[in-house]
Amino acid sequence: MECEVVALSNVVDVATLDHAATERTELRINEVGEVTLQTRGPLVLDNHDRIPTMGRFVLTDGSNLVGGGIISGAVYTSSKTVKSENIFWSESEITAERRALRNQHRGAVVWLTGLSGAGKSTIARGLEKELFQLSMHTYVLDGDNLRHGLNANLGFAPEDRAENIRRVSEVAKLMADAGTVVITSFISPYRVARARARAIALQAGAEFVEIFVDAPLSVCEQRDPKGLYRKARSGKLQGFTGIDAPYEAPDDPEIIVRTHEQTPAESVYQILTELLPRLRLGTT
Ligand code: ADX
Repeated sequence: MECEVVALSNVVDVATLDHAATERTELRINEVGEVTLQTRGPLVLDNHDRIPTMGRFVLTDGSNLVGGGIISGAVYTSSKTVKSENIFWSESEITAERRALRNQHRGAVVWLTGLSGAGKSTIARGLEKELFQLSMHTYVLDGDNLRHGLNANLGFAPEDRAENIRRVSEVAKLMADAGTVVITSFISPYRVARARARAIALQAGAEFVEIFVDAPLSVCEQRDPKGLYRKARSGKLQGFTGIDAPYEAPDDPEIIVRTHEQTPAESVYQILTELLPRLRLGTT
């Protein structure tokens, strides 16, 4: 399987145990480090601390062995299974269709994904305002905000991000089922987590619209609205998306807005044009 090194950190010389002083793009002989690899396709693997034999790898340049390592931080794709046996599902007589009929629009999950600083929150708020002015039921679930409450116990390790997105997916599904057009604004860097968010929304028969809020890393870094890229570059913040943690861009999102080429108002207008027909009654 072809792969590419997308980030390298914590480089240590195994002879002296000294940390490398400068940022590196490749490991030298006798060095170890934390490497983020991106593969061309899906791979079956495990974290080394869970299943050691499935948690190690070697790298070749096509013919020669050039490195090897153990895997940590792999995200498991299985969704949470129900722990208790003695629970039962109950159905409401008020169906999503009846709610939609009264609201005069359908519920939906509008899922914004993109790097920090790409403009997700700005677009989410702009979209919320427009939908509200059209007398629609709408609400924004924002990454930073949810991490103050429901997700306050989660950090930014891959498994925490996965749990963050799982909880948001479930909440968004419930709100969409209740008739709201939910706009989520999370980096949601892993493709598999976003695919699961879609599957969860579809369980409730809710429309799911994935929107890639796209801007090059260099532009996001220049905007740096919270000063976090600067912190990450100076080593004060570890595991920052785009710097030393991965971002997997969507392969086939419903909508792409390019915030380095268009104004927030233009992005919101583009989304509305494509979104509103999907929220009309009688569409599937
Ligand atoms: S996600 O990866 O789990 O989807 P989420 O959208 O909830 O992330 O939170 C991202 C926000 O948290 C960013 O906008 C930024 O303000 C803040 N943040 C703090 N630490 C990090 C980090 N290591 N990586 C990314 N964002 C971070």
